[in-house]
Amino acid sequence: MDNGRYSAFEDSDFESRIVSSGYSESEDSETELTLRPKTMDEYIGQDKVKENLKVYIDAAKQRGEVLDHVLLYGPPGLGKTTLAAIIAAEMGVNIRVTSGPAIEKQGDLAAILSGLGENDILFIDEIHRLNRSVEEILYPAMEDYALDIILGKGPSARSLRLQLGHFTLIGATTRAGQLSTPLRDRFGVVLKLELYTPQQLKEIVMRSAKLLSTEITEEGAMELASRSRGTPRIANRLLKRVRDFAQVKGSGTIDREIADYALGKLEIDRLGLDNIDRRMLKTIADSYDGGPVGLETLAATVGEEAVTIEDVYEPYLMQIGFLSRTPRGRCITRTACEHLGIDFPSKQDKKNRSGQQTFQFDDN
Ligand SMILES: Nc1ncnc2c1ncn2[C@@H]1O[C@H](COP(=O)(O)OP(=O)(O)O)[C@@H](O)[C@H]1O
Ligand SMILES: [Mg+2]
Repeated sequence: MDNGRYSAFEDSDFESRIVSSGYSESEDSETELTLRPKTMDEYIGQDKVKENLKVYIDAAKQRGEVLDHVLLYGPPGLGKTTLAAIIAAEMGVNIRVTSGPAIEKQGDLAAILSGLGENDILFIDEIHRLNRSVEEILYPAMEDYALDIILGKGPSARSLRLQLGHFTLIGATTRAGQLSTPLRDRFGVVLKLELYTPQQLKEIVMRSAKLLSTEITEEGAMELASRSRGTPRIANRLLKRVRDFAQVKGSGTIDREIADYALGKLEIDRLGLDNIDRRMLKTIADSYDGGPVGLETLAATVGEEAVTIEDVYEPYLMQIGFLSRTPRGRCITRTACEHLGIDFPSKQDKKNRSGQQTFQFDDN
């Protein structure tokens, strides 16, 4: 990822980061297909989301109507694409998959929309990256199942309205806040996916191990789960790597010991932090006196885009109470310093004594 800025972390390549929650085509495509749950029952966790969806799906089916448009949002690797496919399966309809950046022109989207069959689902991944002119095609399509086409140019231009079949749009995004208001308002159902608990991730790891025909103990699965940053994609990736260690260095079975050994070799610590997290936190502590440090500044020092910091690193660090967000920037917490074995910056102590709020623990 070359953002053309000086990076203190040039030696750490985000794209090959093992705890990256992003999708890497080469490594993930085959296993994601095998491991991806295909039914609501196989889809572990996200109980609130599943419960609501089941109601909407049943209601739509009973009325013999198309499902309302659905927006799924949350950090990468939590199961948005998986859920879209499950919705299609539960509705018993076809799904057409595309993504925001893949649709360049109005005509591209018009072609996709007119190619949909009655009741089909159109899944647009990274929908926040649709360009505005393309988005405008989507408004009448979502609202009236209509396609407005402009014929000709200048004063003689005419607009022609084509009727489309009924369809459901499922949009996925890591950031609902970046969607334009008119687009967001046209989704009848908006669902937020949450980071998974270690217990849920353990279930996912056990299920995946079974599908990969790998022996794993409960403790081994728990060890992987608690080091997967709340993210199923990372849990599955760690499972694959640890499986190799178990095969070559161990008995083939993944137990706590071999999991711990392998994750140690991969430099993933007890809480799932890797070198980049640790250095980012240490930068806040050492160079910025514990914070607050602005997102843009932080991004520049770790050589990452601000959106990547926000979408990928921060959700987990905030969930475990290592990072707090204040109006003036990010602050490191005492818990984080204890974990890293560094001193909690004294400036932060003074702030606390003077009653300023620097902590913002998120205990769910
Ligand atoms: N609820 C879940 N239960 C089991 N496995 C899951 C679940 N959610 C995601 N996964 C696993 O994680 C992988 C990544 O999920 P995906 O839907 O591609 O995430 P996203 O689209 O949000 O980035 C899937 O291939 C699947 O194996
Ligand atoms: Mg996806």
